[in-house]
Amino acid sequence: MHDIVFTAEALALRDKARAIAEKYVRPNASRLDKSQEYNWDATRAVAEAGLFGVFIPREYGGHGGSILSLCLVVEELAKADSGYGVAFAVNALGSFPLLTGGTEAQKQKWLPQIARGEKLVAFCLSEKFAGSDAGGLAVRALPEEDGSWTIRGEKKWTTNGGVADLYSVFAVTDPGSRSRRISAFLVEKGTPGFKIGKVEDKMGIRCVPVVETQFDGVRVPAENLLGGRPGMGFKHAMMTLDLARPGVAAQAVGAAQGALDYANLYASRRRQFGAAINSFQMVQQMIADMAMQTEAARMLVYSAAAAADKNAADLNKLAAMAKCFATDAAVKVATDACQIFGGYGFMEDYPIAKFYRDAKILQIYEGTNQVQRMVIARNVAREIDRLEHLAKYIPTEVQDRFGAPVEEGASA
Ligand code: CAA
Repeated sequence: MHDIVFTAEALALRDKARAIAEKYVRPNASRLDKSQEYNWDATRAVAEAGLFGVFIPREYGGHGGSILSLCLVVEELAKADSGYGVAFAVNALGSFPLLTGGTEAQKQKWLPQIARGEKLVAFCLSEKFAGSDAGGLAVRALPEEDGSWTIRGEKKWTTNGGVADLYSVFAVTDPGSRSRRISAFLVEKGTPGFKIGKVEDKMGIRCVPVVETQFDGVRVPAENLLGGRPGMGFKHAMMTLDLARPGVAAQAVGAAQGALDYANLYASRRRQFGAAINSFQMVQQMIADMAMQTEAARMLVYSAAAAADKNAADLNKLAAMAKCFATDAAVKVATDACQIFGGYGFMEDYPIAKFYRDAKILQIYEGTNQVQRMVIARNVAREIDRLEHLAKYIPTEVQDRFGAPVEEGASA
């Protein structure tokens, strides 16, 4: 558990996000969900309020780059509309490769524009045949004689695709290498050969475009290779996901709180058998569980965010825990909220069906919850070394069943 400290600035940013969410996000959520349109009014307001600077350090025009502040902002936006929560948060995801792996010149060129909301950003990692196995990419980037690179291939599930001005693109530069196979590039919208392909028709988060991005011989200058040298892409992708997963988890907390709020209000007004349904113990139990899960998720998210802000050694584990726990909680809470609405919960007349549809993707993107559990288990297994002293408390008569420690390199 890390100390969670909310600065006055972080709380002020949260309050701005809450005001924008109530003015521009919630009132338009249902309409934009139906039409699958991006919420430009909200984005203009977010930019004017300086909220795109929340994940950017001060020296590049931001508010300090605190992940905890980012989570507070995302939570407020997602409470009003989970789709807009990700439409905002994906800018952080797309910017983290630059923040973690960019050269000073690259940061100075791009980050101030991102902080001002002049450049929206997207993240192009996944491909048709490379989802959970992020190392198995096929999109290629080939070096040219003048030092530039040519990118060929297709990316899948690019959130913000078409809306974004800048794309962090991961491509294979050294197919023969295991750990230095991949590099990351910044590709600007409008670069010849860069095209938006299929626009997905989604079950939820319909106000943010998710598309296929095509790279048909896209030539990018040498200065757009992140970090200035090839081979660092996979590491930067993993470091990016560690920083971004608390934000997805915050989106889940917002979504859960949003669904809980509607269910709470509905249960106080809906009368059956001559009484408000929130007087029935079975409904009370559901609401109590929903509130507990939401609050527990919130604490884990803030703890993971605090770990990110300290660059703590357990960030990888905590980010995966927060993402997994909070998104599972959001799906459970949204499902129960729908149940409390009964038959009306299944109808699109009420806002709750959208919460239910929006929640599912949280368990899938930015690493499925199966991947998160794998990451958590790997981290927990690494803690075994500090547990060796416990072996002496195993009674000698059962030591034979406890087994000897497995030697390094030996198969289990
Ligand atoms: N930080 C730094 N380096 C890391 C790292 C981390 N968190 N995790 C791994 N690495 C390094 C390792 O140290 C290793 O380096 P060396 O080769 O130098 O030793 C290298 O990366 C390979 O690591 P692994 O062997 O652990 O890699 P793996 O192939 O077993 O994969 C994985 C690990 C966790 C499954 C990873 O592939 C993964 O996270 N998959 C999920 C991908 C994902 O989240 N995709 C989401 C796309 S984004 C999205 O969905 C956005 C959207 O639309 C909104």
